[in-house]
Amino acid sequence: MNLFSAVIPAAGSGRRMGKGFNKLLLPLGGVTLLECTLRLFAGCPWIKEVFLVVQESDRLEIEAIAAPYGVRLVQGGNTRQDSVSRGLEQVETPFVLVHDGARPLVSPEKILEVAEAARRNEAAILAIPIKDTVTRVSEGLITGTIPREGLWAAQTPQAFRTVLLREAIRKAAQELFEGTDEASLVERLGHRIAVVEGSERNLKVTTPMDLLIAEHIMNQRGAR
Ligand code: C5P
Repeated sequence: MNLFSAVIPAAGSGRRMGKGFNKLLLPLGGVTLLECTLRLFAGCPWIKEVFLVVQESDRLEIEAIAAPYGVRLVQGGNTRQDSVSRGLEQVETPFVLVHDGARPLVSPEKILEVAEAARRNEAAILAIPIKDTVTRVSEGLITGTIPREGLWAAQTPQAFRTVLLREAIRKAAQELFEGTDEASLVERLGHRIAVVEGSERNLKVTTPMDLLIAEHIMNQRGAR
């Protein structure tokens, strides 16, 4: 089909994991967390190219992990948005999927579902309804509770027509807007974004507890 490429930002520092190195290099299921994510995308024959965005200090180590999967390495930036933007510069297909390197448990079916939704709508993301009450806290005190009704947590992959995402990133950069995902940038263009229900399994590994949960899910899969 050759309509889609994937950009996988993997140039973070993993500060919240507290290991002092990139959390994507932590072990998961007998390989690295990053390899778990890479093999999912490399295993989608309908994705033409995968661009992995990495920081210079990790390049050698990641090159060795990525080599068997035929992905292309791109130099990362200071923020996630900057890293995605650099990966996007390399994309030649009409559509692009952006996926956090730190989400190693997304299913191939969901990757395809969000891609198909993007073909119909130009922009689509995975998301799940939130379970917790979200409250704003300042200096140890609640300053506002947000009604949970209609609140969803955005996940990745997020899929877009490539020119649309390029335009969204250009506008955000011009207006010094820094988003935590790509959909928030496309939304600022006033564009509609379709939502495909994701899965709780598609967690973003951020803290040591997330890693424990991810390991457990991996083991369960292996046992089935
Ligand atoms: O920090 P967070 O977990 O939200 O990062 C999401 C993804 O973006 C991670 O896979 C991380 O490696 C990547 N990232 C990046 N460049 C940065 C910061 C984060 O590629 N400067």
